[in-house]
Amino acid sequence: MKFFLDTANLAQIERIVRLGLVDGVTTNPSIIAKEGRPFKELIQEICKIVKGPVSAEVVGLTVDEMLKEAYEIASWAENVVIKLPMTENGLEATHRLSQEGIKTNVTLIFTAVQGLMAAKAGATYISPFVGRLDDIGANGMDLIRNLKSMLHNYNFSTEIIVASVRSIQHVEQAAIAGADIATIPGALLPSLWKHPLTDKGIEQFLIDWVNVPA
Ligand code: G3P
Repeated sequence: MKFFLDTANLAQIERIVRLGLVDGVTTNPSIIAKEGRPFKELIQEICKIVKGPVSAEVVGLTVDEMLKEAYEIASWAENVVIKLPMTENGLEATHRLSQEGIKTNVTLIFTAVQGLMAAKAGATYISPFVGRLDDIGANGMDLIRNLKSMLHNYNFSTEIIVASVRSIQHVEQAAIAGADIATIPGALLPSLWKHPLTDKGIEQFLIDWVNVPA
């Protein structure tokens, strides 16, 4: 499973890039707003640090507005991916962009049929939000399993990005379900390699090591 970072924070991205764990980055308007920097400048810097796909989202709601923003964003870097919302206009814009060979990521997917429609429209990636489904008492991982079998049944090349990831369990379950990608918040990712027994083990090894004769 590929790891994307769900952040626009350069320090978080650089830290995980040094470990060779970053296959791509996803952002959304809320994530961009947190950094307090111009959108274009930030996306271009991320695209230089990360060689894989970097999703940048349009905010327009009409097809014309989405396409205008998409062409502008697509000119910023080779590896940029246009993120569009799962709406009728988002699907039309996705279809137009896919016909022109521009990569897209359809976001805010909450049902399997929404994912199926985005795939049929030509989306390169779809982003189902597991955490926000769990928040309302649904099971986000059921959606991932259903999407996985649906796309497999019909041989779609669209990749599933498990989004709205909130926990280590979400990452594990996404991999077990066979998701293509999990996009992980920058602050959550370091908890994936940590375990108290690992730290305790190191501590004990160092205590015992002083008894080894020189
Ligand atoms: O990738 C989408 C993700 O950023 C949404 O996460 O935690 O705001 O539901 P969250």
